Amino acid sequence: MLTVQRTADGGPEVLHLMETDDEQPGPGEVALDVAATAVNRADLLQRQGHYPPPPGVTEVIGLECSGTVAAVGEGVTDWKVGDEACALLAGGGYASRVVCPVGQLMPLPPGTDLVTAAALPETACTVWSNVFMVAGLQAGDIFLVHGGAGGIGTMAIQVAAAAGARVITTAGSAEKLALCRELGAAVTIDYHEQDFVEEVKAATDGHGADVILDNMGAKYLGRNVSALATEGRLVVIGMQGGSRGELDLGKLLVKRGAVIATSLRGRPADEKARICASVAEHVWPLVGAGEVRPIIERTMPLTDVVAAHELMESGAHSGKIVLTL
Ligand SMILES: NC(=O)c1ccc[n+]([C@@H]2O[C@H](COP(=O)([O-])OP(=O)(O)OC[C@H]3O[C@@H](n4cnc5c(N)ncnc54)[C@H](OP(=O)(O)O)[C@@H]3O)[C@@H](O)[C@H]2O)c1
Repeated sequence: MLTVQRTADGGPEVLHLMETDDEQPGPGEVALDVAATAVNRADLLQRQGHYPPPPGVTEVIGLECSGTVAAVGEGVTDWKVGDEACALLAGGGYASRVVCPVGQLMPLPPGTDLVTAAALPETACTVWSNVFMVAGLQAGDIFLVHGGAGGIGTMAIQVAAAAGARVITTAGSAEKLALCRELGAAVTIDYHEQDFVEEVKAATDGHGADVILDNMGAKYLGRNVSALATEGRLVVIGMQGGSRGELDLGKLLVKRGAVIATSLRGRPADEKARICASVAEHVWPLVGAGEVRPIIERTMPLTDVVAAHELMESGAHSGKIVLTL
């Protein structure tokens, strides 16, 4: 099979296509012939050597894919050879074949083709598990998501708006702020020019955000706590602004607030299966109804993986970058 191998820790140029032996599914696993995969920010960290795969997981990068079932392992009864699916992966998506636990397979969302479906598993599972299953966002809540024009952000805005929340988001350019409004954000904040704490307070009559989905970590910790509503939940999923910050517990205590930090990749297979089933039940119908639109900046062949990583690293993209086989 064709795989993208990392020949060293480093920049996009360390990625090379190579032939390796086909993977075979074990009990409870499925092999997919990959049609498409997509780039995630975590892939850049793994390439640089800062985000190794969990124990037992392939070194091949790639957290999501779509494809056709090529073989099923012992005990798999729900899927058969030839079925089309998309999958949440702990690794291995940058390849022509991947093996994963059967619980991480999902049907294609209604109305999507294989290429589009590759752009959805990682963002849908991250947003749904954190914003809804962990933080319990409800209709009528105020939801702040940082980086609204990115892969995670474009999904988060749409799913939260469809659920009846009032969405506030940050982004780094006028063009990206316009995209966020088009996707359903009621209030948009330019993170280069505006203070998001002041803007959130002004837009909510001082109430603040009931749920915050944060990609910045340490850099925004204090300000996120300031922007939280009473009993608000801050969910940190990224550390683009560092991992060590200062938390004013007094401020959090007065608000009876919560700070939660989570990672999807390292969760056990049964938890991922629960998340995938919940996404297929709750998010895929929104895609089918057109309430959640896959936002794809560019679709490129897997052979252009170096250029795809350069594009994500530049920060010029909105939404997802898809790689086809
Ligand atoms: N914990 C988990 O399980 C999990 C799972 C998936 C993703 N993540 C994390 O989620 C984050 C987004 O991932 P992605 O794949 O969607 O990457 P992405 O498409 O590259 O998005 C990165 C986002 O960061 C935004 N950003 C950069 N500087 C910012 C600032 N100062 N303030 C606010 N936003 C800023 C960018 O905004 P502009 O483009 O507008 O500049 C962009 O929207 C990453 O940190 C990733 O590691 C975590």
